[in-house]
Amino acid sequence: MIRLNEISKVYGTGEVKVEALKRIDLEIKKNEFIGLIGPSGSGKSTLMNIMGCLDTPSSGEYYFEDINVESFNHNQLAEIRNERIGFVFQNFNLLPYATAFENVELPMLFMGVKTKTRKERTMELLDKVGLAKRAHHKPNELSGGEMQRVAIARSLANNPSLILADEPTGNLDTQSGDEILSVFQDLWHQGHTIVVITHNPNISSRPQRVVQLIDGLIENNGA
Ligand SMILES: Nc1ncnc2c1ncn2[C@@H]1O[C@H](COP(=O)(O)OP(=O)(O)OP(=O)(O)O)[C@@H](O)[C@H]1O
Ligand SMILES: [Mg+2]
Repeated sequence: MIRLNEISKVYGTGEVKVEALKRIDLEIKKNEFIGLIGPSGSGKSTLMNIMGCLDTPSSGEYYFEDINVESFNHNQLAEIRNERIGFVFQNFNLLPYATAFENVELPMLFMGVKTKTRKERTMELLDKVGLAKRAHHKPNELSGGEMQRVAIARSLANNPSLILADEPTGNLDTQSGDEILSVFQDLWHQGHTIVVITHNPNISSRPQRVVQLIDGLIENNGA
């Protein structure tokens, strides 16, 4: 599914240069469920941003579905992000004035999915994450765990081949966090490919494979 060859990322220049990733090699196969762990500052988000085509590496090659991402222009990268990758973030990133339903529906509206299909699929996705009953509530009427479920449903809207989640449980209490991880586990069983970042080492019992980053290097690739 994806392959990183000697990926490095350097932020800044000269005196303030930070080497966030140091010649990382990593392969993720279709339908793997990966937990990406490591201390704060070890490069997890940097790695995720590169995998999600939100940022480019300083050197090395990144293959997404066997295509070298370097060969893509701005629009093609945006297309990959919108159609092939689902993102879930720590702070949910929901539109505050839109209902759960509208938040999930939006990516499909952008993609020009026909109304009937779009409405049906939105309900299916909310149902999938156990939130059908909350469809017409706005984020401020939902709990943190429910907001994250909406974000997960939204990330699935365009049926992405890869789901990337950066600390999806970081703002949640232990129980809600655990429920969110079990939602990811269910999605994995349904055939999705998932990478979940967390810096809570206790949380890593669910993923099938745990990759550990330390100081910009892969300490353990779990394969
Ligand atoms: N835009 C940036 N400019 C300069 N340095 C950066 C930038 N983004 C990240 N860094 C540095 O790169 C290193 C890796 O950061 P990154 O955000 O990838 O870590 P992380 O593992 O996600 O940490 P956390 O668990 O705290 O989220 C850190 O030293 C950080 O300070
Ligand atoms: Mg981070």
